[in-house]
Amino acid sequence: MPRDRPFSHIFYILTSLISLLLVPTFATSLDISGPLISFEGNIPFKYQGNTYQTHYKLFGNILDKSRTPIVVLHGGPGLTYDYLSPFSDLSTTYKAPVILYDQLGNGRSTHLRSAPASFWTIDLFVNELANLISYFSIEKRFDIAGHSWGTILGMEYAIRKQPKGLQHLVLSDGLASIDLWGQSTGQLLQEFPPWVAEGMMAGMSEPPQFQAALLAFYAVHGNRVVPIPADYNATLQWLFGPNGDGTVASTSILDGWTIIDRLTLLKPKTLVINSRWDISQDFVIQPLVSKIPKAKWIKFNNSSHMPFWEERSQYFRAVGEFLSN
Ligand SMILES: *[C@@H]1O[C@H](CO)[C@@H](O)[C@H](O)[C@H]1NC(C)=O
Ligand SMILES: *[C@@H]1O[C@H](CO)[C@@H](O)[C@H](O)[C@H]1NC(C)=O
Ligand SMILES: *[C@@H]1O[C@H](CO)[C@@H](O)[C@H](O)[C@H]1NC(C)=O
Repeated sequence: MPRDRPFSHIFYILTSLISLLLVPTFATSLDISGPLISFEGNIPFKYQGNTYQTHYKLFGNILDKSRTPIVVLHGGPGLTYDYLSPFSDLSTTYKAPVILYDQLGNGRSTHLRSAPASFWTIDLFVNELANLISYFSIEKRFDIAGHSWGTILGMEYAIRKQPKGLQHLVLSDGLASIDLWGQSTGQLLQEFPPWVAEGMMAGMSEPPQFQAALLAFYAVHGNRVVPIPADYNATLQWLFGPNGDGTVASTSILDGWTIIDRLTLLKPKTLVINSRWDISQDFVIQPLVSKIPKAKWIKFNNSSHMPFWEERSQYFRAVGEFLSN
């Protein structure tokens, strides 16, 4: 492996030793909780002549080539990976290395508050994902799971790059076009008092109103777990907290977006997921199910937009089974 890759054999031997001996001095960089080993770091990402940092968190052993690594794409655009922490379940129950990362502009990755609006494009995030996959040297064999906006990123990456090593694509609580998403949101908001629709409409132009509306709407259609999980709250804090950064959440990169006419170009086996109370209602994902050549559909009966929290064990059993075939 090239020298700038983080996982040399020496590193692997070290982590194996540490996991056996639980050397306490490494506790700050290495989180050891039972059999779960995780590691965090930054990946240099060169784009348009500048170098940025993509922050990742890896669960499991990336050097175990008998297991296919899974890269998980967070929602937004403009959220962070914190709320996707349940995906680490796949590294224990299904023994797959799991890579979570903060997309550029968010969380622990480089923030670019003063970048011009034209800087933010789907192409940027597709290239960042390709850079991460090449950094870990997993091009030959890997899986992708996207959530919400992450399904857009995963599909766009798969269509634009046609990566030969991509085995499975999990599209969780996604959408086939922004128009269908808007129709669904508008329809569901009719069940709420007007201030919720107004706050949702204002978006990041009025962060406090938006946050209040989002929490009210998401309590029914986003994540029904009570009280809200700490990791989900952590993601919201990156957006709405005292140092919150709404730069990426405020971009208009999805205006007019649709993938309906390109879905036949998706080659990997694909699992489409939605849930009973989801913003991704059946009509929002229906083109994915009917037009992606190798699509399978699962619907969770007691979840909304985050079944990996709301029906966690059933969710990862279904995803693990899909990834095994
Ligand atoms: C559905 O989810 C709610 C809250 O998430 C829980 O209280 C309830 O027991 C669940 N119902 C079933 C049938 O699993
Ligand atoms: C979310 O996190 C913030 C900051 O740590 C905390 O003040 C707030 O009480 C948390 N909210 C919930 C609902 O857990
Ligand atoms: C949801 O309920 C239907 C009908 O009872 C069932 O066939 C299906 O397997 C359930 N979905 C999941 C993911 O368990």
